[in-house]
Amino acid sequence: MVPLKRRKVSSSGAGNTGNTGSESKFPQVVLFLLERKMGASRRVFLSQLGRKRGFTVEELFSERVTHVISENNSGDEVRTWLASQVEGRVRTPAHLLDISWYTESMSAGRPVEVLDRHKLQEQQTDEEDVVEFSVPSYGCQRRTTLDNHNAVLTDALSLLAEKAELSDEEGRGVAFRRAAAVLKALPKPVTSMTQLRGLPCLGGHSLRVIKDILENGTSSEVESTKQSERFNALKVLTGIFGVGVKTAGRWIRDGIHNLQQLQASGQTLNRAQRAGLEHYDDLNQPVSKAEADTIGEIVEEAVASVLPGAQISLIGGFRRGKLTGHDVDFLITHPEEGREVGLMPKIVSWLESQGFLLYQKTTRNSYLESEDGPARPSSNMDRFERCFSIFKLSEEERQGAKQTDTENTPEDAFTPEALSQVKDDGLERTKPAGHKPWRAVRVDLVVSPISQFAFALLGWTGSKLFERELRRWAGHEKAMSLSSHALYDNKQNKYLRATSEEEIFAHLGLEYIPPTERNA
Ligand code: CTP
Ligand code: MN
Ligand code: MN
Repeated sequence: MVPLKRRKVSSSGAGNTGNTGSESKFPQVVLFLLERKMGASRRVFLSQLGRKRGFTVEELFSERVTHVISENNSGDEVRTWLASQVEGRVRTPAHLLDISWYTESMSAGRPVEVLDRHKLQEQQTDEEDVVEFSVPSYGCQRRTTLDNHNAVLTDALSLLAEKAELSDEEGRGVAFRRAAAVLKALPKPVTSMTQLRGLPCLGGHSLRVIKDILENGTSSEVESTKQSERFNALKVLTGIFGVGVKTAGRWIRDGIHNLQQLQASGQTLNRAQRAGLEHYDDLNQPVSKAEADTIGEIVEEAVASVLPGAQISLIGGFRRGKLTGHDVDFLITHPEEGREVGLMPKIVSWLESQGFLLYQKTTRNSYLESEDGPARPSSNMDRFERCFSIFKLSEEERQGAKQTDTENTPEDAFTPEALSQVKDDGLERTKPAGHKPWRAVRVDLVVSPISQFAFALLGWTGSKLFERELRRWAGHEKAMSLSSHALYDNKQNKYLRATSEEEIFAHLGLEYIPPTERNA
């Protein structure tokens, strides 16, 4: 599990004029004060006041502006002025407001709710000016790159999804994940609620959160979740490899909220959990692409040594183009059906003999088409030979990795200062972790027979929500069952074969979406 990002409060790049001195506390609220009738000196004074209170107050009008504040102007006057500023059509900012909203927000120390009395007269939403978005309803019908224009909103919804998942409310979690995925697919930042009309998967709860953020800069529910002792304890405890929601919940009921209390409690831990606790810091540091590539070379060598001709593919988040991940995932196959049988234990033995493994647990393949029948769409468990492991990546290898890694290695991630800042997990650290000549990395290995390779590749590339949406589409729209092994047509009562991901999309009647656009 990836630790809570230490999000930089940013005023998001370009157009960041004049917000000197203080950082923006409300990144979704970008203010502009109209000088007309207010006068230059009063405008400077009010702008500085706002910035001191953590507001983003722009010097110049731009498309980023969400709230235009004016004094003694009518809505029409403001509109006319705006039209004169920007060539061609103006996208009307979300709010044209009277100074009263600004002064009330100053007193409150946060953007207050926009009430009717704050709005300028004659302000009707010019329907045509508001960009309304439209996206298809299934995540697998959309192209979702890593270029997310609504990160503040999707971070908030993802956090609430995480809270639901950690509370064993899976349905609610999925609803928030779907809502976040819709926003990730939008070509521009959302600035007003009216733009969201007609978008799928945005339930009342998600809309309330979005509205809160658009109007106030933050969501009270998100903020209180971040402060919640239970939420933070669940995060720390499930951050231990091998610890799920149930175990963490049980420990919390026993008064265990952090790693120190866990260690002191004398709870019996299984082998995975012991390894997870031992390598807690390393496993909660993001893995860089360069490190993933280095591990790829090691796995490649292992595979080539034990079964020449076997092929390995990088899957999971790194295949989708992510620059960091919580682990590294590989799929291994052999072009001749059957040659892959028994491959995993050989790979694992080789890796172990070379000292690359700190932990591993291998599960056998038990999937048999004839016995198992059509894969159930609701089941995301697959039954390949799999190995959940923890790699020991030595400094040397990491050095090799760093040379090819430009800006995305968390360089500071291995210093003791950085480690002690990472999270309040209650563990006292006496040894400077920066001097450890290696780091632990979670690695997942999967072996599939070539006949199922395309299904495995598709099923293990993710994202998790994209996979879920693919299965939902298959079941609801096509009466088919999709798994990481096969695609079954429930109307024709037969398996549909495929040797490439493209063929599977075609069977499903979907436009092909490449891995880098599956970041739903
Ligand atoms: N997966 C799966 N069964 C599991 C675990 C994972 O089928 N028991 C699939 C997921 O659906 C996902 C892929 O394996 O498509 C990778 O999962 P994971 O490594 O958890 O997520 P990533 O997308 O790789 O994200 P990260 O970068 O955080 O590792
Ligand atoms: Mn992964
Ligand atoms: Mn994984």
